[in-house]
Amino acid sequence: MAIKNMIKTIRVSSIIIAAFLLSCKNSNAQVAFTTGDIWKDTDGNVINAHGAGILQHEGTYYLYGEIKKGTTWLVSNQAWECYRVPAGGVSCYSSNDLLNWKYEGVALTAKTGYANHDLDTSNVIERPKVIYNKKTGKFVMWMHIDSKEYSYARSGVAISDKPIGPFTYINSVRPNGSMARDMTIYKDEDDKAYHFFSSEDNKTIHITLLTDDYLSHTNSEKRILIDQSREAPAVFKHKKKYYLITSACTGWLPNAASTVVADNIMGEWKQLGNPCMGDGADSTFQSQSSFVMPLPGNKNKFIFLADKWNKTDLQDSRYVWLPLIIKKGKPIIQWKNKWNVDF
Ligand code: GAL
Repeated sequence: MAIKNMIKTIRVSSIIIAAFLLSCKNSNAQVAFTTGDIWKDTDGNVINAHGAGILQHEGTYYLYGEIKKGTTWLVSNQAWECYRVPAGGVSCYSSNDLLNWKYEGVALTAKTGYANHDLDTSNVIERPKVIYNKKTGKFVMWMHIDSKEYSYARSGVAISDKPIGPFTYINSVRPNGSMARDMTIYKDEDDKAYHFFSSEDNKTIHITLLTDDYLSHTNSEKRILIDQSREAPAVFKHKKKYYLITSACTGWLPNAASTVVADNIMGEWKQLGNPCMGDGADSTFQSQSSFVMPLPGNKNKFIFLADKWNKTDLQDSRYVWLPLIIKKGKPIIQWKNKWNVDF
């Protein structure tokens, strides 16, 4: 027990020292997460990584997200408010403390003037997630690929030898023939990786086991939250239980999040209700889930990553990163204006 506590103290101290050293070196260094505000990288530029996910690899965190840059426009003749901004590809940032992020460049480049190419700026590249494959030594990125009015409904895959890219785009698929929009990838402790995506016109979530190289889908799949119209999936594990947080389907407008839990990924998922508590819980604090990141050194602390979309100026969308803890088997997220990882 004493040794365990010592290790824990050393881990926490090294995070604090790393953050301190960074702040000495870098005048843009931050000491706390400022929720929903403009967030800058270590060069002082606004972080451009929406619908983001984090990969931890060899002691470094890598943040990947949608690059939203340019004028927002409204796609005509749609039944909903289909606001679009040019798909700028996928950005990558690195960090040692999850708070101060260094820009590593464009990990996956978008194309201009190739309207039929998945990565053309006129299309949709959303919710990129990267995992590392120990067997092949490759970094694999999955993302939602769509046409500007969201009828293409596919998942794209890209590969790289390095976490910061450049990633080479392979292709896009409808997994086992199914529509695929909002998505995430969850890599389990046994290195099996699962693709969670909104399918069947966003009505039902599919979970599909990826092949061992993580580049395609197996036939092993499960339909969950059937006809419940959920999207923005974020998956994490705590004490052998799997948790999935999703949003409702209201386009760029925020709504109440909801959690389900399961003992087995391909098993039964049970409702746990809204993980958010307090003022703003009904709108997920004006945001929409994108990822849940476990904090190192502590088995019951996570960061909930969400997007605060600005539908008429999408490039000015902000980030809501909040602490998440599990109380009596239920994830709890509460609003905090400013906080740090020692919550
Ligand atoms: C949201 C979805 C976003 C984006 C948006 C378009 O519901 O989660 O990733 O696709 O719809 O309106």
